[in-house]
Amino acid sequence: MTKITAAITAVGKYVPEHTLTNKELESMVDTNDEWITTRTGIKERRILKEEGAGTSFMAIRAAEDLLNKSGVNASEIEVVIVATATPDLPVASTAAYTASKIGAINAFSYDLQAACSSFLYAMSTASRYIESGRYKKVLVIGADKMSSIIDYTDRATCIIFGDGAGAVLFEPNSENLGLQDEYLRSDGIGREYLKIEAGGSILPSSEETVKKGQHFVHQEGRTVFKFAVSNMADVAEKMLVRNHLTKEDIQWLVPHQANKRIIEATANRVGLEEEKVMMNIHKYGNTTSATLPLLLADYEKDLKKGDNLIFAAFGGGFTWGAIYLKWAYNSKNQTT
Ligand code: UT7
Repeated sequence: MTKITAAITAVGKYVPEHTLTNKELESMVDTNDEWITTRTGIKERRILKEEGAGTSFMAIRAAEDLLNKSGVNASEIEVVIVATATPDLPVASTAAYTASKIGAINAFSYDLQAACSSFLYAMSTASRYIESGRYKKVLVIGADKMSSIIDYTDRATCIIFGDGAGAVLFEPNSENLGLQDEYLRSDGIGREYLKIEAGGSILPSSEETVKKGQHFVHQEGRTVFKFAVSNMADVAEKMLVRNHLTKEDIQWLVPHQANKRIIEATANRVGLEEEKVMMNIHKYGNTTSATLPLLLADYEKDLKKGDNLIFAAFGGGFTWGAIYLKWAYNSKNQTT
């Protein structure tokens, strides 16, 4: 019997129009373009400004972009997973709303939350549905409206994050393309270093928590940085070693876009030169669950059938991991 693997067969994206530049941040907090650029690699980020619009606004548009490009009919989709740390509402599923809005009337849907590793974990989950043979079309959307949880008077966080969404479709493959291996990890000690204190079951929101700004993201940047550098590099290296791959076998590193220095450290560990490292942090910042699918959408035209991709991410929790995936198609707009 032919082995069924889970391949990515289409991608889509959406980023808001409004751009927040480093220059503009200089007038909001005590920072400067030079510091932000050298410490993070970020030049600008997108911010969703539409009145009353939440994460689903972007998720829907990223999914529609995918459907338009691929010609897939939404009614064929069986599962919709929205990877997000910023759902529209604390309880009602953002994925259910997104699925209904795009016309995925035959799908069941749910949100998956693992901070900056949400999309990576969702890739793993989606692949199991496909490999089981039970499902043929699983849509995974990574979307976050980080601006809804950022304190724009806190220079330690407001310079980093941005809003955006990306989507991928997983389908069965019989040529052994798609997801090959994964190594996913988590460690709860990390929640002290990167969190939103209030609004959960430990400390429900109140006038007091809002006054203290406890509904915003707080992070001990330096500590998170250290864990991110060593763990992202470790898991990426593990994918190579465990699959007997040399750096020459790898066409692309697809790293979570949290900080250019973390990305470079990961690339160095696996010996990959800059040309093989996907990067768009300079224009979008850290979009949390959207970084990986936004990279795929931006680099789709450069990807070739059979290319070996190593995904790696690290985020709050802590959560982290790596995935080894073989790209399954040549884009219509292929560059030579
Ligand atoms: O995606 C989820 C996981 N998140 C991450 O992976 C983020 C990981 N952390 C980081 O990317 C980095 O730690 C930051 C970009 C957040 C900060 O960079 P850093 O090189 O770790 O800086 P630092 O926090 O060690 O601060 C260095 C100095 C400090 O001044 P002193 O104490 O040396 O005088 C800060 O007060 O830079 C100062 N500083 C700033 N200066 C200008 C901190 N933020 C800023 C700023 N502009 N925005």
